[in-house]
Amino acid sequence: MLYVKNLHKSYQSGSKSYPVLKGINFSVAKQEFVAVMGPSGSGKSTLLNCISCYIPFEQGTITLGGQELKGLDENALAKVRNEKLGFVFQDFMLLDGLSVRENILVPRIIQGKVDQDAEKLADKLLSLFGIDHIAGKYPADVSGGERQRTAVARSLINRPLLILADEPTGNLDSKSSRAVIESFENARAKLGASIFMVTHDSYAASFCDRVILLKDGVVYDTLEAGHGRGEERQAAFQDRLLGAIREMSSASPGDNPSGSRNYDNNTESNAPAHIDPGSRNYNGGTENKAPAHIGAGTETPGSAERRDTK
Ligand SMILES: Nc1ncnc2c1ncn2[C@@H]1O[C@H](COP(=O)(O)OP(=O)(O)O)[C@@H](O)[C@H]1O
Ligand SMILES: [Mg+2]
Repeated sequence: MLYVKNLHKSYQSGSKSYPVLKGINFSVAKQEFVAVMGPSGSGKSTLLNCISCYIPFEQGTITLGGQELKGLDENALAKVRNEKLGFVFQDFMLLDGLSVRENILVPRIIQGKVDQDAEKLADKLLSLFGIDHIAGKYPADVSGGERQRTAVARSLINRPLLILADEPTGNLDSKSSRAVIESFENARAKLGASIFMVTHDSYAASFCDRVILLKDGVVYDTLEAGHGRGEERQAAFQDRLLGAIREMSSASPGDNPSGSRNYDNNTESNAPAHIDPGSRNYNGGTENKAPAHIGAGTETPGSAERRDTK
């Protein structure tokens, strides 16, 4: 469904080029829930922004639902963002002046397509995510977890091929995080959604099918969740994740269990590995925030490089 092949991305500063993604390969299948973790500066947001069609990349291919993203013009990219992708951000990005239900419908409002189908889906999502009782309330009057579940519902209103989530539990306590992760699980089970999530939170990641560890712009390792039941499986997977993260943090450049391609021993971007060691209450809030690209082609398209606000 999503295929990323040999993806390279550098940022330019003056005449110098700083490689950030150095040959990334992975895929996400339909109805898969995949997380990417890695130290700050390892390229997670850059990767997400390439898939979101927000920044151009030099080399490699990204294919979404059979469509190659490279070479599309701005209109086509806007269409991919509107119709094929759904977005969830760390800080929710809801519109304060609209109710929870209206926020869910925002992508359709922008498209001028609030038809019966959209209204029905909005109501279905409200009840699926346990937020139907707050449908008429405004974002300021509901909890963080409820706001984020509203944002997850909004990301699904166009029935996208893939949901991209950047630190969706980064501003939430453990209970709210659990509810948000449950909404992803429900979206997958009941609506066939596929989710690709950047996270620092090993608890959130432990609910995924697969976790990709990114370090210095390459895939350092990929862990698959084991079989087994509910909480046991999740707790065991979280333990394995924590072990792998610890190992990655102490590994020297070049060590790479997944034998990733094109790893070039480049040490210039060896940011310290300060992934949160398994806290269930990650509240860092220091990660980059993606822009509000929820609308219909209203955003700056991928031709201009976007500087992440730290
Ligand atoms: N627009 C930009 N211009 C120049 N450098 C950037 C830009 N965005 C990110 N970077 C740099 O690229 C590297 C990876 O950043 P990022 O993808 O945000 O990492 P992560 O999300 O894993 O913390 C960092 O060294 C960061 O400073
Ligand atoms: Mg980031």
